Amino acid sequence: MAHTFTTNSHPPALLDNTTTTTLLYPTPANPNPSTNHPVFTHAMTVRHAVFVNEQGCAADAERDEDDARSWEFVIYAKRPPPQAQEEQPVAVVRLVPPPHAPHDTLLDPARASEFPRFDTEHEPYVKVTRVAVLKEFRGLGLAGRVMRVAEEWAAANKEAIDAMYRRVAGGDIQQQKGWNGLVGLHAQVQVEKMYQRMGYETDGSLGTWDEESIQHVGMFKRVALN
Ligand SMILES: CC(C)(COP(=O)(O)OP(=O)(O)OC[C@H]1O[C@@H](n2cnc3c(N)ncnc32)[C@H](O)[C@@H]1OP(=O)(O)O)[C@@H](O)C(=O)NCCC(=O)NCCS
Repeated sequence: MAHTFTTNSHPPALLDNTTTTTLLYPTPANPNPSTNHPVFTHAMTVRHAVFVNEQGCAADAERDEDDARSWEFVIYAKRPPPQAQEEQPVAVVRLVPPPHAPHDTLLDPARASEFPRFDTEHEPYVKVTRVAVLKEFRGLGLAGRVMRVAEEWAAANKEAIDAMYRRVAGGDIQQQKGWNGLVGLHAQVQVEKMYQRMGYETDGSLGTWDEESIQHVGMFKRVALN
């Protein structure tokens, strides 16, 4: 019998005013930091295995300032009995609410201080980031499944997304209508086709750029708000 899969998520640490918002990177010495939401720790184990160990990205860059304001969705695998019944985190997606840095900052990071902190010219979008599935669980539809769960959650939770948008943007921007279902992502070029299958369209005007020595393109999709 095959594995069974379940999904769980964590809210932004910024919403939890009772605990610290300092999210800790799990390490062999401290695999379950007590101040982290457990699902954040599980997400980090998948992110570390895929982006740091497999793709060679810097561990320092893996946890970033977007973590505290983001929702993350994690798929867990459970082996059939009589094997171990422990659930293993195997796939992750992180949803970062608006606002986001202007695209110029990405194209020319050395000049970041010359650009505004947030892009206020374009429509606000929820950004899908850190899409990863452990190597041994690929090809089972788990990326598609965790993306669907995240998109469906976003479509049903405009208010929560707008609240975090307001909180982070502060007085920096004029919000007319808030978030209107636009979802964006930076796709590693080798998986552009995968996102096309999921309904994302490449925005050619953004060009191709380097992030962590991997070439990326910008892609967007609109989800219907519930
Ligand atoms: C990319 C990745 C997330 C795909 O995970 P997965 O669970 O194997 O993907 P799925 O099985 O859900 O496949 C979803 C669809 O994308 C397609 N697909 C998967 N990997 C693909 C690839 N590398 N290139 C093109 N299409 C791909 C599948 O055929 C499937 O299409 P279908 O729905 O028409 O059958 C996984 O390989 C991974 O973690 N890679 C390393 C990290 C990474 O590159 N993340 C993307 C950052 S932008």
